[in-house]
Amino acid sequence: MSTQQVADLLRQAKRILAVTGAGISSESGVPTFRGAGGLWGRFCAEDLATPEAFARDPELVWRCYDERRQDLALKSPNPGHTVLAGWEKRWPDFQLITQTVDGLHQLAGSKRVIPVHGNIWEMRCVDEGSIVIDRSVPLSTIPPRCSRCHALLRPNVVWFGEPLPAAAMATINKLLSRCQALLVIGTSAMVYPVAEFPLIVKKNGGRVIEINTEATPLTGLADYVLQGRAGEILPEIDHAL
Ligand code: OAD
Repeated sequence: MSTQQVADLLRQAKRILAVTGAGISSESGVPTFRGAGGLWGRFCAEDLATPEAFARDPELVWRCYDERRQDLALKSPNPGHTVLAGWEKRWPDFQLITQTVDGLHQLAGSKRVIPVHGNIWEMRCVDEGSIVIDRSVPLSTIPPRCSRCHALLRPNVVWFGEPLPAAAMATINKLLSRCQALLVIGTSAMVYPVAEFPLIVKKNGGRVIEINTEATPLTGLADYVLQGRAGEILPEIDHAL
């Protein structure tokens, strides 16, 4: 399967969705979650990314997020992010969904991006639910507090055991039902609900394209599989369009 075939498919499609995982940022030097050198274990233990851990010891949880934010602050978008940012200008119906929380899509210029797992540069007041953007590293006070009510702020990311934002999911379900081409990029495709997206799109007659350095549970199901680095393959497709 060639990048040209995928470019031909995309040129014919109007309603295109791209869903990215940690692999989109790996060429920016951001560790992925699973596999050798994976994020779980390098920064935070997986069991710290839970509401229970935060209730027990918010300072400990924030120390791990502060460390991760300091690392991410040094990273820049790569050509994969840049191509996806350009595609929202090329197709009025192009929509990007990301499981990354690193904000690199937004830094690359993507405006229409749904961060299903939240954004590490946002903090949410545990009492009011208000959200502030804060890119300061390292944090001056740990744990940070709401400037209005002084309650704790938490990272505005989805933790294990928490539901995904309902409004975002409603929007995504609508998009999936009418999607003609779904690109699944740099994700192990094992975590729900993203793991289900290809099945929904295929059921509705859309095509699925996987871009990944390795085989995943999705590989056998995808209509097109481009094995390799997203930061190289996406510019190749873009060039072939
Ligand atoms: P994973 O770490 O599970 O998977 C990353 C995927 O990217 C793997 O399939 C790699 O083969 C692939 N990959 C690595 N480098 C690549 C490259 N340069 N180009 C293309 N592919 C590449 O990360 P996710 O699938 O994003 O959830 O994980 C999903 C969710 O699980 C995360 O959002 C996180 C985690 O628990 C929460 O934190 C809620």
